Amino acid sequence: MTHSVEWCEDHVRLLDQRLLPQEERYVDLRTCDKVAAAIRDMTVRGAPAIGVAAAYGVVLAAQCADSASRTDAVASAISQLAATRPTAVNLFAALERMRCVQRDCDPQLLVGELLREARTVHEEELSASMAISSLGATLFPAGATVLTHCNAGMIATAAHGTALGAIVEAHRQGKVSRAIATETRPLLQGARLTVWELVRAGVPTTLITDSMVGHFMRTSHIDLVIVGADRIAANGDVANKIGTYSIAVLARAHGVPFYVAAPTSTVDMSLRSGAAIEIEERNTTEVTSIAGIRVAAECPEVRNPAFDVTPHRLVTAIVTERGILRSPFTRGLKGVAASHGGRSR
Ligand code: MRU
Repeated sequence: MTHSVEWCEDHVRLLDQRLLPQEERYVDLRTCDKVAAAIRDMTVRGAPAIGVAAAYGVVLAAQCADSASRTDAVASAISQLAATRPTAVNLFAALERMRCVQRDCDPQLLVGELLREARTVHEEELSASMAISSLGATLFPAGATVLTHCNAGMIATAAHGTALGAIVEAHRQGKVSRAIATETRPLLQGARLTVWELVRAGVPTTLITDSMVGHFMRTSHIDLVIVGADRIAANGDVANKIGTYSIAVLARAHGVPFYVAAPTSTVDMSLRSGAAIEIEERNTTEVTSIAGIRVAAECPEVRNPAFDVTPHRLVTAIVTERGILRSPFTRGLKGVAASHGGRSR
């Protein structure tokens, strides 16, 4: 099992996901500034993994400060980390938990208590991904061909994965005949990371470009789509990697079930619908270049939204660690979010 985020005695160790699959390199980070930069530049990515890394980033800020300035250092670390990436709510949920510890804790005990909370966030994400993997696997028919988008695997979470965890578990149970992974432009999380994980897990895998999804839906028998999520609004609208919405529309047009697998830390009950989810716009060089090489002609306008929102009416079911939810989603999401302590940005 590869761990993308680890706490090693007094610092954070991250798998540098930008280098995969060519190189499996780990970086040791000892300051909150470095953790914030690693989230922003996507050394660490994937909603649950970002939340865990941020929680440890707050611990580093407390650890680096002297006792007189520790409370202020933690507050400014939380603001700094909150400004890294706007869409995945796991980041804000984890930071809110760290803020509550800071508010309620004796400053002398702050480092230890923050570390304890960060470890709890980490362990909860770990057990959530394990539960989601086994629940998600129950949705697979025998001999399934499954399509996934982006990377919702062990390296995007604390371990196991969500959507990819379900695929790997269903494969272990002998139910998967093939997984189809989309390359996921612009940063190729599918081609680089999902294929790497699936092949290592021994799952028969086919890589396609994003624009091939319609063709394969029409000409091959795809039994289900399963993807992860970065934020799920109270009505079940789902923000996930750009391109997810197009796949959901195609799935509906072809009668293919479209499943979303995500921990309750991804549910944001403070937003009534996906219209209120902030969509991150990243640097346009990610679109104009591939692996650092410019491929696009000069163009007056280039756009690079990193996520899109799939309306809840296109979602067949949402798999959380607390159960599989079906439409209408609001009541079910309220139930699972409440039992998780509620989430808000
Ligand atoms: O920009 P990224 O690579 O962080 O986006 C990741 C995704 O969209 C994943 O599908 C999502 O975070 C779920 S990871 C379990």
